[in-house]
Order: sequence, then structure tokens, then C-alpha cells
Amino acid sequence: MKIARTIEDLSTYKKELGEGKFAYVPTMGALHEGHLSLVQLAKEKADHVIVSIFVNPTQFAPHEDFDSYPRMEEKDARMLEEEEVDILFVPNESVMYPDGKNSTIKAGDAAEGLETTFRPHFFDGVVNIVSRLFWAVKPDVAIFGQKDFQQLQVIIQMVEDQNMGIEIIGAPIARDESGLALSSRNLYLSAEELPIARQLNVILREAAKTGNLEEAEQKLLGIGFDKVDYVASRWNRILGAAWLGKTRLIDNVASE
Ligand code: PAF
Repeated sequence: MKIARTIEDLSTYKKELGEGKFAYVPTMGALHEGHLSLVQLAKEKADHVIVSIFVNPTQFAPHEDFDSYPRMEEKDARMLEEEEVDILFVPNESVMYPDGKNSTIKAGDAAEGLETTFRPHFFDGVVNIVSRLFWAVKPDVAIFGQKDFQQLQVIIQMVEDQNMGIEIIGAPIARDESGLALSSRNLYLSAEELPIARQLNVILREAAKTGNLEEAEQKLLGIGFDKVDYVASRWNRILGAAWLGKTRLIDNVASE
């Protein structure tokens, strides 16, 4: 696996791989089995696989966890090497934002409500970095996890609106044996918080059956979640976001 830190190196390594289809998995690192399932899907869809690790400052508000976001490049690189990824792209901030974040694009209406109500900066940050990463990587296909379901819709809309010509694939949510959606932020959960976190998907599934979103919010608070940002229905999914201490968890399940 080649490690590229600049766009020039990335282009050189791509050329060395020659002809064929390129699949791309953008990540912020702290990789887990969920990311590896995206890489495995990428391998099925293309001849060559590129993964990037970049903790994108523009999608974090000043009070959020940008500084403390887990960074573990060596461990991540070892995991990707084992998955036989062709290129790992690890740009720094000046590579991705050479213009000092001057030129920006805005997320489309898929970004309205839900996450944006609570993290108004988030999707503009995401579309700005993902579009820049797409221009750098120039993939044929890109894979995103369905855990961030609204993010997936925002990216699909951006690619269509900007005629980017990249196929976007949403990969199924990877879960632990209890059903907890895998997330890098699960690393923040204490031993006491973990069993509570594991109820989020259970309560969303119940809400998918009953359609009672208010009851789901009350149940989450009742079992120990400190705050519920939303339990909502959209895109034929029941989506939820809730806080346990300093950790914000999101998940979604299919409506029934
Ligand atoms: O889902 C993520 O990990 C990030 O939002 C992404 C798509 C890599 C953009 O920074």
C-alpha cells in the first residue's frame, strides 16, 4: 500500500496502478470494522481502492471534539494494508485547504433539518471537504456508510447537482453483536454508558414498528440518555441522535 500525503503523489501512485476502475472510501480515521466493510465493498466494485484519512476541521463547530477526535494513523494504516488497499491518502490541512477555506460550496436541501438543526455548520463542512477530496482522488465510485444517512443523501445530491459523474454507494450499517452501530466515537463511551448506547438501535427499531417517535424519545431519556436531539422519520427511515454524557450517537433503521 502506498501512502500519499500530497495530491501530486496521489496522482503518481494512481498512474502506477494503471487502467481500471477506482473506488474510494473517505474517512476521518480511527478505523473500525465498519470502515473495513466499506473497503471490502469498494474492492467488489472496482479494480483499485483508495482510502483517505483526514479529520476535517470545517465540519466541527468550535465547541465540538475536533481536538480530541481519535487520531491513530499507524494503526489505521496497518488495518488498511491487511485489507490490501492500494493507496492511503493522508493529506494535511494545507493540502486540502490551500486557499484558507475561501472558496466554498453549500450543501443542498437534503441537509435541511435533523443534523443541521443541531450542527448547523456540519453539512457545509462535509460537502466542502468531500468535493475537494473528490477532485483530488477522481474516483469512479465512492462508498459511504448508511449510518450517516443524511450525510449520504447530501453527498448524492451534491454529486448530482455538480455533475461530478461519480457513482455513490451507501453501504449497510455495521453493528456489534448487540446491534450498536459501529462508530469511531464509541471509543468515548465508558463501561457504564456502553449498555445504554446499545439500546439506541433497539428503541429505534421499536419506533419503526409503532410509528410512535415521541414514545421513543421518552424511552431513550428513561434508560439513561442525557439528551435526545431527535427521533424522526424521513427517507423511509427512522433516524435518531442522542447524547450520553459528552458522546453524541446517531443511528437509523428502515421504517416498517
Ligand atoms: O463520515 C465521515 O467520516 C466524514 O464526514 C467524511 C465523509 C469523511 C468527510 O469528512
